[in-house]
Amino acid sequence: MRLPTALLAASSLLAGRALGALEVDLDDKESIKAAAALVAQDLLSFYRGDEPGWVPGILPGPPPDGDYYWWQGGAMWGALLDYRNVMGDTSYDDTIFQALQFQVGDEKDYNPANWSASMGNDDQAFWGFSALLAAETGFRDPSSSQPQWLALAQAIFNEQTHLDRRVEGGNCDWGLRWQVYRTNNGWDYINTIANACYFNMGARLARYTDNSTYGELAEKTWDLMWRLGYISEDFSVYDGAHEPNCTSINKAQFSYNAAMIMQGCAYMYNQTNNATWKARTDGMVKGIINTFFAMDGVAFEPSCEPAPGTCNSDMESYRGYMHRWMANTIQLAPHTYDVIMPVLKTSAAAGVKQCTGGDNGRMCGFHWTSGKYDGLISASLEMNVLGALTALLMPDVAPPLTNSTGGTSLGDPDAGQARTELPTFAPITTGDKAGASILTILVVTGALSAFAWMSLD
Ligand SMILES: *[C@@H]1O[C@H](CO)[C@@H](O)[C@H](O)[C@H]1NC(C)=O
Ligand SMILES: *[C@@H]1O[C@H](CO)[C@@H](O)[C@H](O)[C@H]1NC(C)=O
Ligand SMILES: *[C@@H]1O[C@H](CO)[C@@H](O)[C@H](O)[C@H]1NC(C)=O
Ligand SMILES: *[C@@H]1O[C@H](CO)[C@@H](O)[C@H](O)[C@H]1NC(C)=O
Ligand SMILES: *[C@@H]1O[C@H](CO)[C@@H](O)[C@H](O)[C@H]1NC(C)=O
Ligand SMILES: *[C@@H]1O[C@H](CO)[C@@H](O)[C@H](O)[C@H]1NC(C)=O
Repeated sequence: MRLPTALLAASSLLAGRALGALEVDLDDKESIKAAAALVAQDLLSFYRGDEPGWVPGILPGPPPDGDYYWWQGGAMWGALLDYRNVMGDTSYDDTIFQALQFQVGDEKDYNPANWSASMGNDDQAFWGFSALLAAETGFRDPSSSQPQWLALAQAIFNEQTHLDRRVEGGNCDWGLRWQVYRTNNGWDYINTIANACYFNMGARLARYTDNSTYGELAEKTWDLMWRLGYISEDFSVYDGAHEPNCTSINKAQFSYNAAMIMQGCAYMYNQTNNATWKARTDGMVKGIINTFFAMDGVAFEPSCEPAPGTCNSDMESYRGYMHRWMANTIQLAPHTYDVIMPVLKTSAAAGVKQCTGGDNGRMCGFHWTSGKYDGLISASLEMNVLGALTALLMPDVAPPLTNSTGGTSLGDPDAGQARTELPTFAPITTGDKAGASILTILVVTGALSAFAWMSLD
């Protein structure tokens, strides 16, 4: 699964510097920036898409051709956009720009035919979030002949609003399916991440465009996740459930599910200034800190991390997003600063401390609570520490732009395909079929039986 030798060689070559553990003084902004620059460089050492013969935008994969699913490339550009915006390092702008434009697909909706065999609504959304983040952070706009950042996000949102992506009738009514296409494994899984992505995207489009329709659709999705019990009374967030009833809930908890919802709540609150959204934001923040920072304030993935080898490369990347979205929540709901900032600090310190691996002596592992490097090498793990460092300084920079506060991205409220047709020429490989993008189902089944106790208290 992992590619230590080849990539390690590549990374140390690119890094080309003296060995030494990642060092940072977390009370010193310049030190944080310097450390983050090294981690960004190490992260990009896994990326080959700017070399001849490789596909722009994606990390090597999907398995078995490489470690990473298509969506993780999309997620990586988001991590780098936040990094550049917070730290002011524009050295990767051309790479980010090329990547985000290359993967838009024929319909300009981040649903390229190449990846249809495992295309999830969540996968599509993760690329869309990076496009939206480009708009929100004032990244350079594409030329008028190219797809625009805001319009790309609107295309995805519009397509996912369409009933051909959803369950109609019964208890799962209005649930967004995990998979885009009926023929894919996971079409009948109505999972939290797909719905959380849609909720989050709606909240952000509402704030960016000041069009309340997006907010209404976002709220409808919050209501659904609450009614189905995907979000519990104590703000635990579970993984999802299958048709026909969506009642047999898979109670595995993953940090990106909860963080995606928390961030969406913060956007809704910032946009509406409504006490209900404030309470939901606060509830989600508390739930996240209780569940994912229970080990001395250090990020921990309770549904897979206790059993060695159970977290796949997707799961290994969740905490990086969580850190960034918590910091973004501070920007949008500044009253959460005192609750969120302390854990971002303790967790980042633990994250940095274990970055002592690889040929260059500063590659990061996964088990932050252990205090030492665990021997793993992966883009996800660099992305996590990059996210944790970025998060520390994010509250100091301007909050996400909107169309009325300096955002220049052009939208198209009607973007996207009216109906989603399966491309007939899509190559379906074994890897695609088994992989099914954000691979929760298979691993979750195992994790759940191993950790049934997690949800029993
Ligand atoms: C689709 O796959 C082909 C063949 O590997 C590649 O040349 C092309 O660049 C890919 N397109 C996208 C959008 O990934
Ligand atoms: C607001 O968003 C909705 C939903 O996408 C869209 O149908 C409508 O045209 C938008 N309104 C404006 C004024 O852009
Ligand atoms: C779904 O609900 C119906 C009606 O309540 C019930 O008869 C059926 O057994 C349920 N199916 C599952 C798989 O839970
Ligand atoms: C706040 O939002 C909730 C949920 O949408 C709504 O029920 C309530 O009426 C709103 N409050 C105000 C003051 O608008
Ligand atoms: C929305 O965000 C801005 C920028 O951080 C902040 O000044 C404002 O107070 C926020 N609104 C709410 C309701 O917290
Ligand atoms: C965004 O702002 C521009 C210029 O300020 C305006 O022309 C445009 O109509 C706005 N778009 C939306 C969706 O409000």
